Amino acid sequence: MHTFKELVAGFGDRFTVKHFPETPATLYEPGEYFLSWGGKRIRPVMCLMGSELFAEITPDAYEVATAIELFHNFTLIHDDIMDEAPLRRGMETVHMKYGTNTALLTGDVMMIRAYEYLSRINTLYLSRILQLFNKTAREVCEGQQLDIDFEKMTDVSMDAYIDMISLKTSVLLAASLEMGAIMGGASEGNCRHIYEFGKNLGIAFQIQDDYLDAFGDPEKFGKEVGGDIRQNKKTFLLLHALEVANTDQKKLLQELMTNNPADKVQQVLAIFKTCGVDEWAKKLKDKYLQTALTHLQDIAVLSSRKGPLEELAAFLIQREY
Ligand code: IPE
Ligand code: IPE
Ligand code: MG
Ligand code: MG
Ligand code: MG
Repeated sequence: MHTFKELVAGFGDRFTVKHFPETPATLYEPGEYFLSWGGKRIRPVMCLMGSELFAEITPDAYEVATAIELFHNFTLIHDDIMDEAPLRRGMETVHMKYGTNTALLTGDVMMIRAYEYLSRINTLYLSRILQLFNKTAREVCEGQQLDIDFEKMTDVSMDAYIDMISLKTSVLLAASLEMGAIMGGASEGNCRHIYEFGKNLGIAFQIQDDYLDAFGDPEKFGKEVGGDIRQNKKTFLLLHALEVANTDQKKLLQELMTNNPADKVQQVLAIFKTCGVDEWAKKLKDKYLQTALTHLQDIAVLSSRKGPLEELAAFLIQREY
């Protein structure tokens, strides 16, 4: 068994190779540039953990973990175009540095590369993994589109927000665990529980992401703080504020979202603070964490094997970057 830290380091070592050919450098160099910034490697590590919960980690588990991390990085490159984000992992985003057209293609080719890694695994489970991977990829697109649709809407419910973040973020965390579990030979029941563990944990993870986007320390966060506010993202912070704010504050929030004044971010943040979003964030994360942990408990393996997953859960909802 490996700890969370050991798996991050182990995966990082294997992932630090060239994933693309040399030419045309205008296409492949931006991809290598983006991958070289690293990242937390949560999803590939979840795949490895999902495997190791049931069996030894095989070379195939590393192929799938690599595919997952490439797919994730592809979604980030395109996400930064959609969100007009200038910064990621403390560096200039691909579309800002190389232009939107190149960023689109860099993302596309990274996704194709992901499928090349996937296609190498044992045919014993290739079709099952591919089916889950494809379903997940489609759901991520659905979630991303809902996220964009919500920017223009004024009456998004908390349930719709949770559905949207499940699709854009948490299904990939869930599927990473389940793909690992499939390769580890887990039963159907165990696969279901590990998926639900990841899905609920993923919701808490995106809640934390949205919280950090408003209140993170710019030094640690690595992304632009306030970007979600600028883009009128319907995060739980805004939805909760619209629920509990007084009439004047609600009116002001609506005005700020329509008129986009230069100090919009500061003004919205001030309202968020008075609406107790801190406490609310903690409550919301806790609710999904608890549900996640009951599914972890229900996985039928020795509880001593579950330590790394518990460690991962604690890190994901407390993270500052
Ligand atoms: C960012 O994911 C996108 C979200 C779903 C919030 P991560 O926070 O895992 O990004 P990196 O890979 O560690 O940079
Ligand atoms: C991203 O959500 C989800 C995907 C990339 C699929 P965000 O837009 O909140 O992610 P960050 O904050 O830019 O990493
Ligand atoms: Mg974004
Ligand atoms: Mg986004
Ligand atoms: Mg975010």
